[in-house]
Amino acid sequence: MPRVLSGIKPTGKVHLGNLLGALQHWVADQYENDSLYCVVDLHALTVPQDPATLHETTLQLAQILLAIGIDPEQSTLFIQSHVHEHIELAWVMECTASFGELRRMTQFKDKSETADFVSGGLFTYPALMAADILIYDADKVPVGDDQRQHLELTRDLAIRFNSRYGETFVVPEAAIPKAGARVMDLQQPTSKMSKSDDSPQGTIDLLDDLGVAARKIKRAVTDTETEVRFDPVAKPGVSNLLSILGACTGQNPEDLASNYTQYGPLKADAADAVVEVLRPIQKRYAELSADQPGTLAILGQGAGKARAMAAPKLRLVKERIGLLGI
Ligand code: TYM
Repeated sequence: MPRVLSGIKPTGKVHLGNLLGALQHWVADQYENDSLYCVVDLHALTVPQDPATLHETTLQLAQILLAIGIDPEQSTLFIQSHVHEHIELAWVMECTASFGELRRMTQFKDKSETADFVSGGLFTYPALMAADILIYDADKVPVGDDQRQHLELTRDLAIRFNSRYGETFVVPEAAIPKAGARVMDLQQPTSKMSKSDDSPQGTIDLLDDLGVAARKIKRAVTDTETEVRFDPVAKPGVSNLLSILGACTGQNPEDLASNYTQYGPLKADAADAVVEVLRPIQKRYAELSADQPGTLAILGQGAGKARAMAAPKLRLVKERIGLLGI
């Protein structure tokens, strides 16, 4: 069975972009693949975090993943810091990547330009991400479009390591969906929807009140024309709504455009589709969030399963690079 791995940071709230770009594909992938999904808490540390908040959002995120349909019988669900092998392999990946490669990462450039404090971890972040993926020999990595460059670096590092030390890692493929790979902010449709608190009206949180979520879609910025057309460059707002509707209903955004002659009905349908996607998630989340011990037990089992896969790979890596074993 092909192996799938992906991760999400426990920073801020989980939003519609996370769901449509990545998480809903995690759920679908778990039935046909050997799948591992992790809450990447160590990646969250690349920017300053309040300890109590990090603790809470990590548990909450695990419960949201269960609520969207990650099934612990089908998938291995775990917290990154519970499997210390990731960090050991990350160091090896830092020493496999060049300074120039890491410096070219656009996410680092964007984030470091605006941050007051730029940690060393923010710079080496993609090496840890490569370790997350390579330590499990993942074939496929379901992610949104913003992770494309990190995946390309991961592939380059796997190929470089294999050619230096002999076949060790599977070279993974990014799996980026056709619709929903880049959900844009509803108020500023030229920026992607993101976890930062800057644009509450532009971001739909998975736990938003359903009426509030629908209103955010209905008030989304479009343009002064009236034509409904899928053209993300010329018509970013309208195209975003078509992408959201397409990703929620499994249809192609280009085809959907021909069903509409006005923006109002498109917004109404997109709002309904989002509400129908969020409703069952919120219901399950309400049940799960009351059962903290149950969630911790699932995470404990997941960590055990993940460690059993990661440890032999790390041993092999250490042997290959010449570290002395005892
Ligand atoms: P993170 O936590 O920022 O986002 C989690 C997933 O959501 C996708 N995503 C989006 N998709 C569509 N539209 C958007 N507006 C949008 N915003 C976010 C992301 O592409 C991602 O798939 N570096 C990763 C976490 C990570 C990881 C890994 C992923 C660490 N190790 C190993 C895969 C494999 C990140 O910051 O995702």
